[in-house]
Amino acid sequence: MLKTIESLGELRGKAVLVRSDFNVPLKDGVITDDGRIRAALPTLQKLTEAGAKVIVMAHLGRPKGEVKAEFSLAPVAKRLGALVDVPVKRASDLTGESAQAEIAALGAGEILLLENVRFDPRETSKDDAARAELAGELAKFADFFVSDGFGVVHRKQASVYDIAKRLPAAAGLLVMKEIESLSRATENPERPYTVVLGGSKVSDKLGVIANLLGKADALLIGGGMAYTFLKAKGYEVGNSLLEEDQLETVKGYMEEAQKNGVELLVPVDTVVAPEFAADAPATIVAADSIPADQMGLDIGPKTAELFAEKIATSRTVVWNGPMGVFEFPAFAKGTEAVATALSESAAFTVIGGGDSAAAVRGLGFDEEKFSHISTGGGASLELLEGKVLPGISVLED
Ligand code: 3PG
Repeated sequence: MLKTIESLGELRGKAVLVRSDFNVPLKDGVITDDGRIRAALPTLQKLTEAGAKVIVMAHLGRPKGEVKAEFSLAPVAKRLGALVDVPVKRASDLTGESAQAEIAALGAGEILLLENVRFDPRETSKDDAARAELAGELAKFADFFVSDGFGVVHRKQASVYDIAKRLPAAAGLLVMKEIESLSRATENPERPYTVVLGGSKVSDKLGVIANLLGKADALLIGGGMAYTFLKAKGYEVGNSLLEEDQLETVKGYMEEAQKNGVELLVPVDTVVAPEFAADAPATIVAADSIPADQMGLDIGPKTAELFAEKIATSRTVVWNGPMGVFEFPAFAKGTEAVATALSESAAFTVIGGGDSAAAVRGLGFDEEKFSHISTGGGASLELLEGKVLPGISVLED
């Protein structure tokens, strides 16, 4: 059982350190998808309404322990300020003079966002003592810790894991909701249980596929990773993405799927183009007829229909990874078709973070049409893999 915010007791006037995941995409300094910030609001509101002084820690990108202006959380503080109706203040450092002064001046019901935790090399250090030192400095600022950055709970980092050992800690509302939804889909799913996997690399999803071959009823493979499956079936894939070194593993998966009675569907047709470009001329070809000088950039319409039919007859569907290069409209139809099928399905539907969540929002789908859209990329994948996540186990009773 995860410890809840209620278990912390009276919060009025208390300082609460919150870890959020504000790792949002930025283009020229402008946030292009604020889904993660909006997902953090219920916990922040609950704490401010309870009269707590809320100190938020978050990261942006991977600055590797150095202060880099392009990874500053300033744009996030601004967006957060526009989304909540309490004052949002900002410190220009994590534990230094600015943070200390802002915390001293912070009022009950106000929010302070500290600067990027990853500007401090101790945050992500592999050295337990270094992380513990940073966690100790942070712990001095607060009475309680609330872990709500679901996207980072698979990371054994100072602001996620070590801090929870130093302060009375609880899971925030987002972490609770994520764990509840992902467990419902992965631990005891209502069947048929279908998992749709996409994205560019099969090597990123090896653990997930291996685990699902013992759990899911059907695995639908699209995206760049599908071409390694097609090659493993003996087809030529032209200039499509191919991980030669995974061919044997993938062949093994196909055999295991057959042995376990798991339906493993790979594309029967694909959209190809001579180059990776938004305006490249797109052609639909059968999966066994990809021309040598072309590359597959999306699943084809027959595959999309096949996948949609499978989704329509499932009771639980988990989707992780786009079906094609959805950023280019000419190659977004496969991803759109899968999103449509999920949105129309009566099944319990979970979209596993990162690109697929961004795709669903970017393509203009109503988020309410899905049972759960995860904010975690790596974290949701590791749960699908059946792994124990350090940032979760540390919050257990
Ligand atoms: C994410 O974007 O998935 C999370 O914010 C975690 O980021 P990380 O992979 O850099 O740890």
